[in-house]
Amino acid sequence: MKSKIFVALDVDTEAQALEIVGDLHGLNACFKVGKQLFTSAGPDLVRKIVGMGEDVFLDLKYHDIPNTVAKAGLAAASLGVRIFNVHASGGRKMMEAVRNEMDKLSNPPMVLAVTVLTSMGDDDLREVGVDAPARDQVARLALLAKASGMDGVVASPLEISLIRETCGRDFKILTPGIRPKSAAVNDQTRIATPHDAIAAGADFLVIGRPVTAAPDRRQAFLDILSEI
Ligand code: C5P
Repeated sequence: MKSKIFVALDVDTEAQALEIVGDLHGLNACFKVGKQLFTSAGPDLVRKIVGMGEDVFLDLKYHDIPNTVAKAGLAAASLGVRIFNVHASGGRKMMEAVRNEMDKLSNPPMVLAVTVLTSMGDDDLREVGVDAPARDQVARLALLAKASGMDGVVASPLEISLIRETCGRDFKILTPGIRPKSAAVNDQTRIATPHDAIAAGADFLVIGRPVTAAPDRRQAFLDILSEI
């Protein structure tokens, strides 16, 4: 990967996304394309950004029957993305089917698992039939993801040390909810600074608005680099 930082392209149009990519050109930023941009601009835009030589994380959080997710993963790989993700709650068979397909490729993307959405607390989990506290469920699903051949997980800054303890050093951790010291918090609650997230053991950071909404995006990105 070019760097540890994925800038979230949370915009609606190809033009807006390419403007951000262009603004950060040459700084070794990586980029995250999520459901909002992918649904409006589609795979052609992903191909275009990859074609510009950029590292892309396709954040579509696949969750379906094993065959469907494995084939979606192959389609993601064929776009040339470096990372895509699945929901660990899709289960072992689903994740193993993805691993199986990726193992047939010569240079497969990294596959990360989402454990518990950080928007869900203990009460929300109980409502969908999970009686365990969120932290226990995070640890459980992270271990299952590891046992099912996933390369790592997406985790909140507050879960990094828990996952390091349960899954070991080689399991990748990608962390959103990052706010540089000087930035606005926006709607994020469980946050960490870039420095603290890396110090706690994160391998990759996802940072959106502190860069994309900054008056000078290049400077904002460079400030984050120097912070870590
Ligand atoms: O602008 P901001 O830095 O808050 O963007 C963070 C990105 O990470 C968004 O794309 C958001 O959807 C994503 N994300 C998150 N928290 C999670 C999982 C993903 O903020 N728990």
